[in-house]
Amino acid sequence: MAKQPFNDNFLRACRQEAVDHTPVWYMRQAGRYQPEYRKIREKYTFFEMNEIPEVCAEVTRLPVEQLGVDAAILFADIMTPLKPIGVDVDIKSGIGPVIANPIRHVEDISQLRELEPEKDVPYILESVKMLEQQLSVPLIGFAGAPFTLASYMIEGGPSKNYHLTKAFMYAQPEAWNVLMDKLATLTVTYLKAQIAAGAKAVQIFDSWVGALNQPDYRRYVAPIMHRIFGELKEATDVPTIYFGVGAGHLLTEWNRLQVDVLGLDWRVTIHTAREELGIQKSLQGNLDPSLLLGPWEMIEAQAKEILDQGAKVPGHIFNLGHGTYPDIKVETLQRLTAFIHEYSQQN
Ligand code: CP3
Repeated sequence: MAKQPFNDNFLRACRQEAVDHTPVWYMRQAGRYQPEYRKIREKYTFFEMNEIPEVCAEVTRLPVEQLGVDAAILFADIMTPLKPIGVDVDIKSGIGPVIANPIRHVEDISQLRELEPEKDVPYILESVKMLEQQLSVPLIGFAGAPFTLASYMIEGGPSKNYHLTKAFMYAQPEAWNVLMDKLATLTVTYLKAQIAAGAKAVQIFDSWVGALNQPDYRRYVAPIMHRIFGELKEATDVPTIYFGVGAGHLLTEWNRLQVDVLGLDWRVTIHTAREELGIQKSLQGNLDPSLLLGPWEMIEAQAKEILDQGAKVPGHIFNLGHGTYPDIKVETLQRLTAFIHEYSQQN
């Protein structure tokens, strides 16, 4: 099939430039809600899918072709670069990352090697290069943020309250800083390698950092995020995105970072972010993914409201407030994508 002209609406929205229509993509747009994904997943473990470039590229392209979204996101996991540096991680279906050797002491941190992308994750760079040739929409590269990576590394798996993570942070602040520093270096190195291979934007997932209050975020996490986004800004002009769940109380802190786009979950409206919190950066979000199981009329009304709020200032990328769920229908996301393109073109 002939390659279509490159659709750069997503990149223009990241830079707060004029767009032909509001660009849209969905977090976890490659996933178990797709029958095609489930079929491939039956044959491979998660990391096998990740490590075979042809499979990784196919799964990355699938939602672009199936849904008509304006950006692709590399099929990988935030844990992908941790495996080669000495974290014994497995992805369990329906659970998430599970780690056999959780961090408890500072000595556990010194066991971790530095990431050398060409040697440690060659398959990721190969997949990015392959996709760069195949796609006619921008490819988003990504990494986990230090707090969120640390939460899995310390808890040993998913957590509800991040008790062990926060206890480590409060009780061993020096070890915490060593860990944050190491993970920040890994994040920057990994993202720079994805950009060099052809990623057109990068998103940093700090999914669980909303567990911290604002003063603790400022003290234990913000310095490392300033370093990460500062180093990326110095090295490259590809747009950067920062996302977290339940992190509305941190948005004013995030506004000070050298990041281009802030990702919102569904708890804070675009109106609140713009008018009450004074956020001037591009915004990405923020339909509640659970609403996708409600009646179409409700989905459409909510999408309209989000688009109307997003259109007041240049720089809006439509997305879900968090990732897709396995019980969402492909047809719902197809219809929503078409609606967003059509409605935002008219208005
Ligand atoms: O399509 C995409 O969004 C790209 C691929 C992607 C995955 N994970 C694939 C995946 C991305 C961007 C991620 C990021 C990720 N992974 C985050 C940050 C985003 C977020 O959701 O907050 C986090 C916290 C993780 C850790 C993780 N990995 C979780 C919570 C889970 C889900 C557990 C489950 O089974 O519901 C995973 C596994 C995972 N990562 C799946 C996929 C498609 C499901 C794996 C499967 O097929 O079993």
